[in-house]
Amino acid sequence: MKEQLASVKKEFEAQLKRVSDLSQLEELEQTFFGRKAGAFTNLAKQMKDVAVEQKKAIGEMMNEVRTNITKELEEKRADLQREEMKKIVDIESIDVTQPQLPKEEHGHIHPMAQGLKDMTDAALAMGFLVEDGPELESQYFVFDSLNFPPDHPAREGMDTFYVKDHPELCMRAHVSNMQVRLMRKYSEGGTKPMRAAYPGRVFRNEDIDATHEHTFYQFEALAVSKDINIANLIAVMKEFVSSLYQRDVEIRFRPGYFPFVEPGFELDIKADIGRGEEWIEMAGCGLIHPNVLKEAGYDPNEWQGLAFGMGLNRLIMVKYGIEDIRHFQSGDLRFLKQF
Ligand code: DAH
Repeated sequence: MKEQLASVKKEFEAQLKRVSDLSQLEELEQTFFGRKAGAFTNLAKQMKDVAVEQKKAIGEMMNEVRTNITKELEEKRADLQREEMKKIVDIESIDVTQPQLPKEEHGHIHPMAQGLKDMTDAALAMGFLVEDGPELESQYFVFDSLNFPPDHPAREGMDTFYVKDHPELCMRAHVSNMQVRLMRKYSEGGTKPMRAAYPGRVFRNEDIDATHEHTFYQFEALAVSKDINIANLIAVMKEFVSSLYQRDVEIRFRPGYFPFVEPGFELDIKADIGRGEEWIEMAGCGLIHPNVLKEAGYDPNEWQGLAFGMGLNRLIMVKYGIEDIRHFQSGDLRFLKQF
């Protein structure tokens, strides 16, 4: 009987080691304590056949084994329950700090906004103040103040949108509407030099195609002082272009006509937008016409100015290899997600 008890205990302990979940533990418990065929139950049933003088000792031993086995069973049960709880917590835990949006849906910067920021940063670094301006504007600031004579063909060339029943107003066809406004605002009555940049949206009644939009962006800047010359103009424009592209860019100046500069130029840059290297027209520029300086309150005999206006869409198209200007305003995510 003693040996049987010892071997049941040994067997129990060996099997307990192999138990890895609660249902296996349940089975093990049945194997040893099941009311009909449990190994320990069977032994207990044999107590009645034990000789009287041994009953006490065997009975004590049996109680001890039962207590031990039961204790080990309960400990194992507690361990397994703890483990199972931990598994559930791991699976079902919610990280409240983790955003639920999938990665691809995070917003990002539109290439136009990035270009505007790069150009604005360059302007600020060179001491230009940066201002916004009205898109619906008086014809005075868009044309008259800029030395466009009333019936001059240059007005027609800008394909301007006019406003019904308001002949004095138009949608600005260039951001040059800011020139006289800003010079008046910051020159303190024509007594102080100034530098300003004024990017913004402009509008033209264009036939739309891959290189023409009705709504696009220009980036303009001007500087007025008593010792400005064409070398300054070239240097400043080069600096803006190379800070946008982060590399040296080949540029060329050609004579160009704009009523508000004298002399006037057009700036081309060498780039490949899918047709091989070519010269692409990027900007108009020049030294500010004396009539414009006068209109702004400066004495043109004492003061000179430089000014340039760039097509920002085109600059950015060259930077990123964008082949169609209509992408900028299309709202097409397949385009936008590439940046
Ligand atoms: N405003 C002109 C345009 O839209 C571009 C331009 C030419 C701007 C000469 C300037 C400039 O500041 O000096 O075509």
